[in-house]
Amino acid sequence: MRGADREAEHMNEGHLTFLASPDWARMLETDVLPWVDTAGDLGDDVLEIGPGPGLTTDLLRQRVPRLTAVEVDESLAIPLRERLAGTNVDVVLGDATESALEGDRFSAATCFTMLHHMPTPEHQDRLFAEVRRVLRPGGIFVGTDSLDIDMIRDGHVDDVFVPVDPNTLERRMRSAGFAETTIDVRDWQFRFVARKG
Ligand SMILES: C[S@@+](CC[C@H](N)C(=O)[O-])C[C@H]1O[C@@H](n2cnc3c(N)ncnc32)[C@H](O)[C@@H]1O
Repeated sequence: MRGADREAEHMNEGHLTFLASPDWARMLETDVLPWVDTAGDLGDDVLEIGPGPGLTTDLLRQRVPRLTAVEVDESLAIPLRERLAGTNVDVVLGDATESALEGDRFSAATCFTMLHHMPTPEHQDRLFAEVRRVLRPGGIFVGTDSLDIDMIRDGHVDDVFVPVDPNTLERRMRSAGFAETTIDVRDWQFRFVARKG
């Protein structure tokens, strides 16, 4: 798996501070993760893509027996690996679009507010195909991401912002080989659940 030296995918300081803040931890706990819980059982061996500072990882790892978190930014992956050493989380430094992870392994894959941090829609499509490869048949891919609205755009000055249009996602997931996709839009974000057939 390739190392993480791509400046283009680093977040601006304000964004990074927010993603490590008690405010974001609270929103994840009261809003985002309960929404993800309604997608169904994640099973016994779960993948998280783009954990960043790891507030999502902290909540996810309470819900599943085993979690593998793949983070492309070395300055985030290494401290997270150190912080979660000896727990049920394995932090992998690398690009999730070309992971060397075993095919058909994971019972579920997740990603939270990371798709819009990928440099192009082609990278996002490559990620969808790679996630499908590493999921078991019947495994689910659950994620949330931000809508393309001013409030979110304003938070991404000098940052990567390639929003996913939820209206195109079902088609894109189908092209990546997913059998069923459901998409729900709420406030400033959307949630998707796609199943590998
Ligand atoms: C906005 S942060 C979200 C962090 C966390 N999921 C949360 O919601 O608090 C997006 C993260 O995705 C990571 N990322 C972007 N592209 C990636 C890729 N191709 N593979 C793995 N991680 C990636 C970024 O480095 C960043 O840490």
